[in-house]
Amino acid sequence: MKRVRTGIKGFDDLIQGGIPENFSVLVCGAPGSGKTIFALEYLYKGAKDFGESGLYVTIEESPDKLRDQAVQFGFNFPALEKMGKIAFLKIPIDVHSFDLVRAVEAAVQRTRAKRVVIDSLSILDINSGMYSIPVKVMPDKDRFYSNDTMQLRDTKGDVGKQFVYLFINRMLDLGTTNLFITDSLQNEGPYLTRDTVSEFACDGIVKIEMKEFGKTMVRTLEVKKMRNTKIEPGLKTMKIEQQGIEVTEFSY
Ligand SMILES: Nc1ncnc2c1ncn2[C@@H]1O[C@H](COP(=O)(O)OP(=O)(O)OP(=O)(O)O)[C@@H](O)[C@H]1O
Ligand SMILES: [Mg+2]
Repeated sequence: MKRVRTGIKGFDDLIQGGIPENFSVLVCGAPGSGKTIFALEYLYKGAKDFGESGLYVTIEESPDKLRDQAVQFGFNFPALEKMGKIAFLKIPIDVHSFDLVRAVEAAVQRTRAKRVVIDSLSILDINSGMYSIPVKVMPDKDRFYSNDTMQLRDTKGDVGKQFVYLFINRMLDLGTTNLFITDSLQNEGPYLTRDTVSEFACDGIVKIEMKEFGKTMVRTLEVKKMRNTKIEPGLKTMKIEQQGIEVTEFSY
C-alpha cells in the first residue's frame, strides 16, 4: 500500500509513515486549534518535497489570507502556484444549486492534484441547502455521473448529514488523498462532530485540541482512527514553530 507522507515533523511516524493513498482524513478541532496550518503544511510539503500537486478548497477564508498564514512559516505558496504545483479553489456560499463536486473535480483535473484539502466541512454542513450533488447513472459505477444534479431536500432536518456523507464519498472518486477540516463540538457527547457522520465516513481522524493541564495550556494532537494502519496511540504535544508544526511525545 502506498503511503502519502505529510512531511509534518513527528506526525507520519504515528501512522506507519503516512496516510494510505486515496484515503479521506478528518482533521477536527476547536476554532484556533491549528487545523488550517496543518492542512497548509500537508499541501506545501507535498508539492515541495514529494512532487505531489495539491488543491486547497476553501469555503470560509480567502486564498490571500491563507497565503499570508502560510508564509509565516516560510511556506511560499505563490512560488508553487506559479509552477502549477498548488492551487486554491474558493467556493461560493450563496450561489443557488452550486455543483460543488464537479467544481472540485474540474480543479483536480486541471491541476493534476494528488492531495486535496477541504476547509471546512462544518461550513458546508451549515450551507448544505445551497449545493447540489451530481446523480450517478448506476450506483458505484465510479465516475459516470449523469447530467442531472439533485438538490437535497429537507425531510427530517438532516440535509447537512446526507450532504456531508455524499460529499466525502464523491471526493474519493477523484483518487486523491483528502483532508477534511471540521470543527469539533465543545462539549463532547457521543460524537466528535456536529454533523455526526463525517467521523464514520472518513478513513482516518486526527483530533487537535487546546487542553489545560494545571496552569498550562497545551496544544495536543491525537490520531483517533486510521484504517489499515497501526496507530501510535494517545495524546501527543503539537507545537506551532517557526518552520511549521512539530508533533512530539506528550509533555507540559
Ligand atoms: N506564527 C505563529 N506561530 C505560532 N502560532 C501561531 C502562529 N500563527 C498562528 N498561530 C496559532 O495558530 C492558531 C490558528 O491556527 P489555524 O488558523 O490553523 O486554526 P484553525 O483550527 O484553522 O481555526 P479556525 O477553526 O478558526 O479556522 C492561532 O490561534 C494561533 O494560536
Ligand atoms: Mg481554519
